[in-house]
Amino acid sequence: MKKRIGVLLSGRGSNFEALAESVAAGRIPNSEIAIALSNREDARGIEKARECGIEARVISSKGLEREAYDKLVIAALQEKRVDLVCLAGYMRLLSPQFVAAFRNRILNIHPSLLPAFPGLEAQRQALEHGAKFSGCTVHFVDENLDAGPIVLQSCVPIEDSDTPETLAERILREEHCTYTEAVRIVLEGRYRIEGRRVLIFPEKAQEKK
Ligand code: GRF
Repeated sequence: MKKRIGVLLSGRGSNFEALAESVAAGRIPNSEIAIALSNREDARGIEKARECGIEARVISSKGLEREAYDKLVIAALQEKRVDLVCLAGYMRLLSPQFVAAFRNRILNIHPSLLPAFPGLEAQRQALEHGAKFSGCTVHFVDENLDAGPIVLQSCVPIEDSDTPETLAERILREEHCTYTEAVRIVLEGRYRIEGRRVLIFPEKAQEKK
């Protein structure tokens, strides 16, 4: 049976699009995107999902406490029998209840080499700190911000001429490939978590016919 992915997003949705393309192209085999879900009506990613025929839903968080809101999102994901939740520019902190409902089944992508520069404007933080390298991190989501066990990272050199925008653009290109690879590893169950470490097993060689 195909593994079912739920994507949560709040904005542009380029990581969602990259994942959708990777699923369609077989780079993430035996999987489908069961739902794209947003807290924002105006999220461009939601439009993109609809354009490519993926079920898209907006659940507005207006006037709801975090737990009450997350209950609705959890229910929507469970209704779609989602195996893996991918946060892709989802600008909300998850409640402990949410994390518990999908323990070790939520991934996030962050535009820095964590644990450096968590939180907002990670690319600007890296530049202002004078870092020579940044990149992106795909990690499991736990109760803390940008903090769970790291699945994959990709490194991007910082040029003297970089602005937060140029750096963000180069990191974003890496994000799309790194997220695809991480989702594939996790859905294939090719890993083991030992404390904070995510140990990845090599791909099985194709069986000879
Ligand atoms: C990406 O840089 C991602 O790492 C961060 O938010 C941004 C979302 O971009 N968490 P997009 O909506 O996927 O284009």
